[in-house]
Amino acid sequence: MEIYHKKQNLNQFVKELKAQKLSLGLVPTMGALHDGHLSLIKKALENNDRVAISIFVNPTQFDNKDDLKKYPRTLESDVELLKTVSNDIVVYAPTVEDVYGDNVASVNYTFDGLEHAMEGKFRHGHFDGVGTIVKRLFEIVQPDNAYFGEKDFQQLMIIKKLVEKHNIPVNVVGCPIHREKDGLAMSSRNTRLKPEYRNASPFIYKTLLAAKEKFGTKSANTVTEWVEKQFENHELLKLEYFTIADTQTLKTVKRKSKDKTYRAFIAVYADDIRLIDNIALN
Ligand code: PAJ
Repeated sequence: MEIYHKKQNLNQFVKELKAQKLSLGLVPTMGALHDGHLSLIKKALENNDRVAISIFVNPTQFDNKDDLKKYPRTLESDVELLKTVSNDIVVYAPTVEDVYGDNVASVNYTFDGLEHAMEGKFRHGHFDGVGTIVKRLFEIVQPDNAYFGEKDFQQLMIIKKLVEKHNIPVNVVGCPIHREKDGLAMSSRNTRLKPEYRNASPFIYKTLLAAKEKFGTKSANTVTEWVEKQFENHELLKLEYFTIADTQTLKTVKRKSKDKTYRAFIAVYADDIRLIDNIALN
């Protein structure tokens, strides 16, 4: 397992790879790795000669300083977990300075409106931070393919838009959501849930499944109101938003159309931990 903390050293590796015309897959992460991340790595290993993973808790995408401070940083155990999949993975785990120099700031982007919905509305500046770091990582690592989870579906769509708008020569690959046995979408944040909240949290996916079922016969509005009601009296889980949106534009659906696809998106607070999930509806 090769671990690079400096882009200079990684550059050498990338140069050699390009000279040999080998393909490179990149999986960008913030670490605290779990099976969801590993599913992306496995997909990358299947389709590329070499695979790199970046592990970097990106400060510019956090709108909440406390969340940034508390974000788990577990490089050693992350590397051990990666070894269970393959020893032939390159890790880029830079310092903030290596990525940003002394200007820890994000660029302002527009993503044709994708950035205004859901996470963009509730986490100010979040997607500017994501766009800034992912573009930077693409420049440093120069992957042929890059892997992102549908767990963060809006992020996936925004990265596709970033690549298209800036003519970045990377193929962006979306990967399905990996779940715990009880349905909770895997997340680095799950380890911070107190047991009672962890036990309550599968309710989120259960509600999404029920919403999908209802969407077959009912309007988006009716389903949304039903979901909001399920959370109204929930003792532990607080709903931040539930939205049924057009998969392409991420705009909230007013009236269903037969030739469009829709997804339901949800954000919930379990104590002070924010959990997100989504599901394809048709
Ligand atoms: P992070 O939350 O570490 O996630 C890294 C990648 O793993 C993302 O593409 C995310 O969608 C995917 N992922 C996380 N949990 C998943 C699950 N349960 N199933 C499938 N995929 C899952 O997303 C980020 O980091 C950052 O915003 C990043 C893109 C690295 C930029 O800093």
